[in-house]
Amino acid sequence: MKKPITCLLLLNLFVLITQAETIDRKTLDFNKDWKFYLGDNTKASKPDFKDDKWRKLTLPHDWSIEGDFDKNSPAGIGGGALNGGIGWYRKTFELSDDQQDKEIYISFDGVYRNSEVWVNGNYIGKRPNGYISFQYNISAFVKFGHQKNVIAVKVDNSPQPNSRWYSGSGIYRNVWLVSTNKIHVDNWGTYVTTPVVNKSSAVVMVQTKLVFDSASKNTPVIIHTTIYDAANNEVASQVTIPNKRRGPKNKLTSPSRNRMPNQDLVRLNIPTPHVWSTEDPYLYSIKTQVKKGDTLLDEYLTTFGVRSFEFDVDKGFLLNGKSLKINGVCNHHDLGCLGAAINTRALERQLEILKAMGCNGIRTSHNPPAPELLDLCDKMGFIVMDEAFDMWKKPKNPYDYHLYWDEWHKKDLADQILRDRNHPSVFIWSVGNEIPEQGDSTGVVIAKELAAIVRSLDATRPVTAACNWPDTNNYIIKSGALDLIGYNYHQDMYAGFQQLFPGKKFISTESVSALQTRGHYDLIPSDSIRRWPERWDKPFDKGNADLTVSAYDNVSAPWGSTHEETWKIMKKYNFLSGQYIWTGFDYMGEPTPYPWPARSSYFGIIDLAGFPKDVYYMYQSEWTNKTVLHLLPHWNWKPGQTIDVWAYYNNADEVELFLNEKSLGVQKKTGDDLHVMWRTNFEPGTLKAISRLQGKTVATTEVKTAGAAAKIILIADRNMLTADGKDLSFITAKIVDAEGNLVPDAADLIQFKLNGGGSIVGVDNGLQTSMERFKADKHKAFNGLCLAVIQGTEKAGIITVTATAAGLAAGSVQIEVK
Ligand code: GAL
Repeated sequence: MKKPITCLLLLNLFVLITQAETIDRKTLDFNKDWKFYLGDNTKASKPDFKDDKWRKLTLPHDWSIEGDFDKNSPAGIGGGALNGGIGWYRKTFELSDDQQDKEIYISFDGVYRNSEVWVNGNYIGKRPNGYISFQYNISAFVKFGHQKNVIAVKVDNSPQPNSRWYSGSGIYRNVWLVSTNKIHVDNWGTYVTTPVVNKSSAVVMVQTKLVFDSASKNTPVIIHTTIYDAANNEVASQVTIPNKRRGPKNKLTSPSRNRMPNQDLVRLNIPTPHVWSTEDPYLYSIKTQVKKGDTLLDEYLTTFGVRSFEFDVDKGFLLNGKSLKINGVCNHHDLGCLGAAINTRALERQLEILKAMGCNGIRTSHNPPAPELLDLCDKMGFIVMDEAFDMWKKPKNPYDYHLYWDEWHKKDLADQILRDRNHPSVFIWSVGNEIPEQGDSTGVVIAKELAAIVRSLDATRPVTAACNWPDTNNYIIKSGALDLIGYNYHQDMYAGFQQLFPGKKFISTESVSALQTRGHYDLIPSDSIRRWPERWDKPFDKGNADLTVSAYDNVSAPWGSTHEETWKIMKKYNFLSGQYIWTGFDYMGEPTPYPWPARSSYFGIIDLAGFPKDVYYMYQSEWTNKTVLHLLPHWNWKPGQTIDVWAYYNNADEVELFLNEKSLGVQKKTGDDLHVMWRTNFEPGTLKAISRLQGKTVATTEVKTAGAAAKIILIADRNMLTADGKDLSFITAKIVDAEGNLVPDAADLIQFKLNGGGSIVGVDNGLQTSMERFKADKHKAFNGLCLAVIQGTEKAGIITVTATAAGLAAGSVQIEVK
């Protein structure tokens, strides 16, 4: 629906906008050519400081991941046993003369932590929060033409411990240099909502916040807002005059609660909208053009999606009117051997692996994520719970964010909402995880304050908090500030939720916390369940001597459950909108239940290197239509040992297992079973399973007793990379016997070598106790597998990767970079 602008004016405006235009906005990738020094030097903020001896590097960068694991690390094993400290970054750069009349901004997507910035010796600002994105206007401090500018950034991650998980250290997310006209759209300056969505049309409301400097504040400008579909066809557009000149005429409809002062709001219409869903994550975009006469002053792009959703007291979560169980996972931000240093392909690979499992949700535990993660979730279709804090005013660690709470929480939370509120993948705001104030009356005030901040900036999504005390006496719940009652664990209380909280809506903000080491199996009866540690507050001495945990799904933390235990309950009740399982991937730090030398978590459905543990296939059999038939364990045991064989399967009504052609019987899932099991005595040979539906074979799978390790096979997740200096290929090295069977206990040291350019940016094997460096060109295999992450350069070419190990035939694979 068009605004009441006269036809003549409209005509004039359209004539103007079709003329030749130049755009003043430039967003420069500002990651290259930084100098880095690990240590403190107060003089480094000065522009003439000599940094020629400093290391040259490209951001994003995490210095902690480059170090050795340290038993005495101040970060503790909870923090990944890698060291923090102080680091300095400097970059020298020039700005062309034609940028003199522009506004110049520097944007940091995230710096861990306590960053302070100087430009040409001028102190620009500090930001304690290690996860928030922030921007500084540096126009007043920079020089143009062939004059040098120096930006210096001090990063202080030395007060430790300050995190319950591995944080990384440094400028670990992207940095951008943005130049704009003096008149421009503000940073995160658009807000797009779709208050009405149906088959025939969608109403799209767009608010735009413009920035003027004092000299330009009376300049007459117009805003041209255009919606494009995914194929870049124009779908709707409208021209408006910013409201400060239009006064009361600019009257607007809902969502009035989110009407910002001094912002222009337009209402557009998309006929027969293509809705966004997890299966078909269709994206539209909005081009916001700011013009003065025929001059295009600014152009700002916003991606958005058209979807409607609700959380219902009885029906759970509905997306576009259809019920959808949120089958999500929590993840921390590290990328395994790459550390915290953000890489879009590494994130995309994680999401691909999760998507293939049938996962449809991500919780950004327990902090604002990298913006690229949300872009990917928009494109790939995930229901995101975007979380702000792991603590409020009360600490969990001596040096954590509670120290900065009073001064920073309002700004940090508001900036997160402003940054993330246009992402169609974001559905839930979480204002905190397991906040100590749950048990304290101050929780009421703070919960209300935070929810009010969120709603003042976005009232289209529910607010929750992850409560590990889901009780009517919980002060955060009692505050009435939450739209969704967020349960951490307490799966045995799910069924009674509607009685405990009548009329309220449910989400399991965090669940499960099962423990596993990939490819390791304890031969206790697999149907006996262990809770490790027995109590969170008591030393644990009952584990395995080698600090492994069995990968039969039968070990969990006492506050959690096995994967099957929670999923059985979750799938039973419609009012349970879904869960975020702790965790999708193993992460650095928090190696529950073990002490040093364990240094990374056991909670993942997928290990730290990205190799799925067996339970991945349980979820895949439940959450996808893809035919699954997965057998565990491996088949290398001692003759006579009693082995439980499990199968996860779907699309079939029975599975028959054969050992060396001899049937061990047919098993069927009954009731709420999620796997079938045979107990048998080991004899070497071939274990073969056949799944059948009404007597017809659906799938067959085999596990064979492997002989001695004979060779290495290399498998690249992608054989073709973009020559952008960032793209990655994840190479799995598999140690196999002469017949190609995985050797399930192989631990050979593998040496990787590259020919033809590129670099090895990380190596790992997923073993939680490995003391080997991640930044190396060699690594031991663990249970037959090892990973090397290869990064191409900006030059096209062929990279040949070879892997050698003593006594084994080498493996090789080629990657094309173009
Ligand atoms: C939860 C907590 C997570 C993680 C998990 C391990 O209580 O929210 O951050 O510590 O326990 O089980």
